[in-house]
Amino acid sequence: MHHILSARDFGKNFQWGVAIAAAQNEGAAGEDGKGASIWDAFAKRPGKIRGGGRPTTGCDFYHRYKDDLLLVKALGFTVFRFSLSWARILPDGTGKVNKEGIAFYHKVIDECLKLGLIPYVTLYHWDLPQELQKKGGWANYFINKWFNRFVTVCAEAYGDKVKNWIIINEPFGFTSLGYMIGRHAPGKTGLENFLPAIYHTSLAQAEGGRIIRNLVPYAHIGTAFSFSQVVPHSDKKEDLAAANRVDILMNRLFIEPVIGKGYPIDDSFKFLEKLQLHNKAWKFADRLQFDFDFIGLQYYFPVVIKYNPLVPYVQATEVNAKSRKVPHTAMGWEINADSFYRTIKRIWLYGGVKEIVITENGAAFKDEVKNGIINDTERIDYFRHHLKAVLKAKREGVNIKGYFAWTLMDNFEWSEGYTKRFGLVHVDFKTQLRTIKNSGYWWRDFLNG
Ligand code: GAL
Repeated sequence: MHHILSARDFGKNFQWGVAIAAAQNEGAAGEDGKGASIWDAFAKRPGKIRGGGRPTTGCDFYHRYKDDLLLVKALGFTVFRFSLSWARILPDGTGKVNKEGIAFYHKVIDECLKLGLIPYVTLYHWDLPQELQKKGGWANYFINKWFNRFVTVCAEAYGDKVKNWIIINEPFGFTSLGYMIGRHAPGKTGLENFLPAIYHTSLAQAEGGRIIRNLVPYAHIGTAFSFSQVVPHSDKKEDLAAANRVDILMNRLFIEPVIGKGYPIDDSFKFLEKLQLHNKAWKFADRLQFDFDFIGLQYYFPVVIKYNPLVPYVQATEVNAKSRKVPHTAMGWEINADSFYRTIKRIWLYGGVKEIVITENGAAFKDEVKNGIINDTERIDYFRHHLKAVLKAKREGVNIKGYFAWTLMDNFEWSEGYTKRFGLVHVDFKTQLRTIKNSGYWWRDFLNG
């Protein structure tokens, strides 16, 4: 008999969730005392966001959270991951606490608990208060002091209701795109920004973990990394070396200091040595460690890398999925579930990781609404294959505790604005009308199966 994949295959304690993020969903940009974030500021700069979209309205989660949580429930999920907007809680990043900001997340958390949804809270999902960016943001030495205060305020406010905490979302994502390449907020470039941002972010994730451990009894603490399988374009020595450099950056840079291996300094990749010199990082190597209860693993795609001497430092470029003529999403990301399986196994085999939670996985496609129906079969296939990869790894002994689909509904996709749709629920951004896509119904059946 043909075996239909069902949630039961993963065991009854497996946690099933959907994830969203404040800057992508909430909107209400200037409401109830919220300060501007770097994404509010960045989106105002011409040409930075595809289609000119801004996070000002998002999908209006700020006003519609009750309905949206009902959707989470209706689709059968039991866990809900969302992030706290630092600038909603501390409009200037430091200083005065905004009571209305604190109150908003109490309402969201209470609503989750009322519906029987377990809240997973992300402390930092990329929306730094703009006031702190004016002082250099993640490149400023004082960011750790500011971040620790923010974490303390949040732990004291919500610690008795929230047990699951994710300290930082994808440190490599925002430090590389925001402080080296300049494609994401705050649009900074160059090693003089990137290196201090790396160091401060790795310190922040460990210090954040310690603060939650001290303030929240029985907390289940993690931090979320993006991982990609890095595949060399050929067997040529220079392609292999280029792939290794990219692998160090994309996969090893942030997890290794946490699990006590220090920064991945490689003889063949000298530029990272500067990290050691920066702020005398080696002196504080033990402060970059933290014994996380779980590692949040976020996976979207593998990359194929070839040597390119014209690219500074890393001397490598990606050979994109389109030119390789392999299946890809609307983001141009290769669809490859086997590479997800390999990524999970690799992180597990590191040792030092106690538990893995898949904190994001999903895909954008060009969804078409026809007679009120969105038949997004490609997304259903994406989930089906990627869930099989999770199950395979789990059956081979990897301690995977849960899986979060990215994302509940179409939202502000960073520099892609509103032009890329990742949701299980379609959003008409003119009317804020929500329509469950067929992938949403697929999830409901899968979770109830
Ligand atoms: C992740 C990020 C999410 C989401 C997703 C799809 O890197 O954490 O916020 O945008 O990618 O691009």
